[in-house]
Amino acid sequence: MTDQTKDVPFSFGIDVSNATLEHYDNHIKRHLSEMAGQYQDQEVYDALLTQEDVLLYEVYETQRPEVAGELLNGLSVVHPGKIGDEYFMTKGHFHAVLETAEVYYCLKGEGVMVMETPEGDWVVEEMRPGRVLCVPPRWAHRSVNTSANEDLVFFFVYPGHSGHDYGAIEKTGFRKLVVERDGKPVIIDNPRWHASRG
Ligand code: PA5
Ligand code: NI
Repeated sequence: MTDQTKDVPFSFGIDVSNATLEHYDNHIKRHLSEMAGQYQDQEVYDALLTQEDVLLYEVYETQRPEVAGELLNGLSVVHPGKIGDEYFMTKGHFHAVLETAEVYYCLKGEGVMVMETPEGDWVVEEMRPGRVLCVPPRWAHRSVNTSANEDLVFFFVYPGHSGHDYGAIEKTGFRKLVVERDGKPVIIDNPRWHASRG
């Protein structure tokens, strides 16, 4: 086992088939109840929640000091499923320090990353095994699992001082939603989004 209290190099494996890290310090689980207001179909959301607080996604983190110079990293696992016709997805966030980037490496599954800037530019990029996704500074990001039955698994790396800003996205969501139409993912406008988030 690596002693991370010392600043010495260390390594660990990724168990792709079981979608976990060989070593991690923190395991975050996000459930349906933490996504209030994020899904378009409020009725379906409420009905599902009364039945079960479904586990939507999990994050395994290797702890590092949250300072510039460090690189925080870990593994995210977004489970398959839908709320109405909208796929399971992460909350999504801007980095608190807006001018910080992030790199994702997709290991398993199929999905997309929905991204946008504070100015309202948007991009939806495909995520599939073996592909690297670069999120430049200023772009909020949310991953969406578009598979019917497989986990979406990816490794991420971002600067130690980035922080997470969930506030703007919690208010209005992303500019675009990813929904299933005739068995396929399509991008639609989010009726709740508006340019002024104030
Ligand atoms: O740093 C990231 O962008 C990822 O590690 C995400 O935090 C992770 O996928 C979970 O998403 P969120 O933080 O939006 O709940
Ligand atoms: Ni991020």
